[in-house]
This record gives sequence, C-alpha cells and structure tokens, in this order.
Amino acid sequence: MAKKRIGILTSGGDCAGLNAALRAVVHRAIRGYGWRVFGIRDGSMGLMNRPLDYVEFDLSLCTGDMLRLGGTILGTINKGDPFNYPMPDGTVRDRSAEFVAGYRELELDAIIVIGGDGSMKILNKLCRMGNIPMVGIPKTIDNDVAQTDYAIGFATALTVACEAIDRLAPTAASHHRVMILEVMGRDVGHIALSAGIAGGADVILIPEIGYSLDGIAAKVAEVRSEGRNHALVVVAEGCRTEKGEKMSQLHHGGEMRYGGVGQYLADRLGEMVAAETRVTVLGHVQRGGTPVMRDRLIASSFGVYAVDLIAQGKIDRVVAWQHGQVVDVPLAEVAGVTRAVDPYGTLAHTARGLGIYIGEQAN
Ligand code: F6P
Repeated sequence: MAKKRIGILTSGGDCAGLNAALRAVVHRAIRGYGWRVFGIRDGSMGLMNRPLDYVEFDLSLCTGDMLRLGGTILGTINKGDPFNYPMPDGTVRDRSAEFVAGYRELELDAIIVIGGDGSMKILNKLCRMGNIPMVGIPKTIDNDVAQTDYAIGFATALTVACEAIDRLAPTAASHHRVMILEVMGRDVGHIALSAGIAGGADVILIPEIGYSLDGIAAKVAEVRSEGRNHALVVVAEGCRTEKGEKMSQLHHGGEMRYGGVGQYLADRLGEMVAAETRVTVLGHVQRGGTPVMRDRLIASSFGVYAVDLIAQGKIDRVVAWQHGQVVDVPLAEVAGVTRAVDPYGTLAHTARGLGIYIGEQAN
C-alpha cells in the first residue's frame, strides 16, 4: 500500500511553539505510521504558488532544536484571503481553485492546519470546496480560539508581558510615575487580564468590560492613599476609547491593526491623576523568542494527537486542550468563532478580589 502523504501549514500571525508542533507532527507521522510529511510554505500560498512551495520533512530536519526555536520555519501569512486575493494591480481575484489544484498536484491525503479562528475559517472553506480532509491545531497569542483552554503561543506571550510589568514596576516606583503597558490580543483581553494579575497591575482594561477614565483615576488615588507613589496600568490593544471609538492604525497594504489606546489613556490620565504617565507598547516581542515550556508541551501534545486523528479517519476536527487533556472538537465549532474573556469568570473574579480596577460594565 502506498504511504499516506500529509501536508502541514502554519497560517495567521506567528507565535512561539509553532515549530514544536511541526516537529511533533513529523515525528508521529513518520515514526508512528510511516507516512510522508510535506511542509507547505507561507500558509495557503505554498499551494497557490507555481511551482508549489513546500519541503518534505524527515526526522533529521526535526531535531529537539525545533522546540527552542521561535517563529515558524515554514513561514506564514495573516493577510490575502484566497477567495478575495488582492492582486498587485489593485483588483481582487478568487484564487481558491489554485489551492485545491496545488493540493492535488502534491497528491496529499489530508492537511493539518496550525492556525487561529480566522485561518481555520478560511482553510475550512478551502478544504470543503476541494473535499480535502482537514485537522486543525489552535495557535495564537490572543488565546481566543473557541473550545480550547490554551492555544499555542499564549503562554510565551504571557511570560513576556508579565516580565515587562516586572521591569516597569521598579522604574515606575523610582520616578513616581503611572506606567501604562499596552499589550496585544486583538478583540479579546486574555493576555492583559492574565499578565496584569500575575504582574500586580492596579488597573487592567480589556475589550470585554467597559471602563471610565474617572474609574481609573479613582483607583490611582486609592493606591496613593494607601501610601504607594506609583501605579501600573495594563490595557489590551483592542480596548476602545471611553466613548467607544476603536483605536487602530492603517498599515502597509491597507491593513488595519489595533494600537494607540495606551497613548489615548496617557494623554487624558496625566492631568487627572497629577502624575507623569508613560506608555510602553509591547508589540511583537510578545510573539517572538524562545517558547516557554508550556507552549512546547501543548504544541507537542497537539501535534501527536492531530496525526492520530487522521490515522483514525477523524477529519474536520480541531485538537483542543480541556481540563488538562487533549481532546478533539468539530471544526465547525471553532472556525471563525472567537472566545472572549468571561467578564464574570475566575480571572475577572480574581482581579476584582485583589482590588484591581477592571472597569465597570461587561460589554
Ligand atoms: O493575532 C495575533 C496578533 O499578534 C494580535 O494580537 C495583533 O493584533 C495582530 O496579530 C498583529 O498583527 P500584525 O503582525 O499583522 O501586525
């Protein structure tokens, strides 16, 4: 019988732990089942490009060093939907058929997609169109993939964000300042809430809960009345202004990205709290660097399990981490679904219990 041929790609924003997942898939597929594994470069682009852009993995390419390596050795994209692909002349073209043709040309039997909710949605649509068996592995520093407690990359991003707060605290104290740290997370506040609690923030603002500038100022005053000369504010990039306006910036190629809410707050709070108020925008350092142990572990477990699903003929599934175990859930329940912070969940309750100001009204 011919050896099974599986493809694997990384899609959406990179994060730490992607290479650990690739390594696990290759090891399980080759060692466990004797299959061939093809790494597709730059997300869906590798199957849309001609010649096809891929690498056949072998075990010698997938040593333990991949556990330690940030980013993705396959490359990735977080723009350029194949169904509405922006062409250089400004027009938009449907290139989905090229993806399906590329899959057939490579004679693949199934594809593993490592992506967030947005990538899963697009890849699910492509795979349905081409009758392609797909299994998903959740990744994103935002940790907003539905049905899983953890996505690959979140733990490393949290470690970076928490370390940033640790570094801001002493300089804030030395200069009697209010320090604002703006963290990533897109439309959700998982990074801000977890890192803020772990770092000892006084104020944590997340898109899921509305806040008032007066509320923040009152918290800073309270901190002062307790004898502390500085305060730490963590804000998720997806938070809006007090009036509900989105804070975003236009980047190259017309892409909108969140950013600016930290400065917005600093511009208003400085006078209100009568203290020098400074902003640090943490940005992409949250995505890069050496994966922490937890991301390596989750990525390895996800990779092995995803290959086992294909071996069992269980397709259109996404692996997930629930209650300390890897399980699988229907792709349809994950693709395009965002998992927000529960404004009344454990972490929000913990923050309130610690006296942290996290806003007033759930949005
Ligand atoms: O989804 C991951 C993420 O890092 C978000 O937190 C952030 O808003 C976005 O990607 C940034 O994207 P880019 O790398 O295109 O600026």
